[in-house]
Amino acid sequence: MRLTDNEIEAIAQKIASKSPSSGRRPIVVGNWKLHKTPTEAANLVRELVPLVEGATCEIGVAPAYPCLERVAGILAGSKVHLCAQNAYWESSGAFTGEVSTAMLKDLGVSHVIVGHSERRQFFGETDETVNRRAKAVLAADLTPILCVGESLEERDGGSTQAVVDRQIRGGLVGLTELQVDDMVLAYEPVWAIGTGKVATVEQAQEVHSFIRNIIAELYNPQTAAAVRIQYGGSVKPDNAAQLLAQSDIDGALVGGAALKAADFAAICLAT
Ligand code: 13P
Repeated sequence: MRLTDNEIEAIAQKIASKSPSSGRRPIVVGNWKLHKTPTEAANLVRELVPLVEGATCEIGVAPAYPCLERVAGILAGSKVHLCAQNAYWESSGAFTGEVSTAMLKDLGVSHVIVGHSERRQFFGETDETVNRRAKAVLAADLTPILCVGESLEERDGGSTQAVVDRQIRGGLVGLTELQVDDMVLAYEPVWAIGTGKVATVEQAQEVHSFIRNIIAELYNPQTAAAVRIQYGGSVKPDNAAQLLAQSDIDGALVGGAALKAADFAAICLAT
């Protein structure tokens, strides 16, 4: 059997995206949420690109939709990926206010965050809608970053594992092992987001390892070993290295600290 050039390129990219040691190349993504106008976003990436030149991890920034095109122009030729904060599952139609994966792809987006806790909390996202979005992102050959995480009430009530288990299984319904292999998962305890209360490395590692075990059970050990799991929630330059040194933490999804080029670059360089 002869492989096509496209297939060879896909395999080469897959190999290049994994590090030789754990088999997983760390990935750090800045989620800019509802911050930065297009002009401010352009200034931020202009400052960021030279600062992360020497970083070895995979890097992405997720500006708000209206900033994507300006940011794409500045990122062209750099190692920083353009990411989006969400995407709708329908490809077109009467869905006012929504954005399709094809629109994002056309702008040069490579990764799309789905199921962020703020979407679940404020915009009625459920495991089912998150799953539909993840499927649409994969169908467009883009990489979903699927977020899960418990609230403070859930942690205090002892249901962290039950909540994360439900969100992971619900988010992955109908996805094949090959699809999951290439996805990114993000564990973001809601109580650690924007609060300055970072999970301890033990708390984070415990849930990451728990998530990897669910993947092994749902799919197989190889898929569990391949999937990358980011930690998110008050990641800063001074705590990033310690978190990222944990065996099951493969990167960071960064909010507040991603809005300052120097801080975000320091996190990228800590991997
Ligand atoms: P903070 O880094 O501001 O806590 O936000 C984390 C987050 O929600 C990233 O998606």
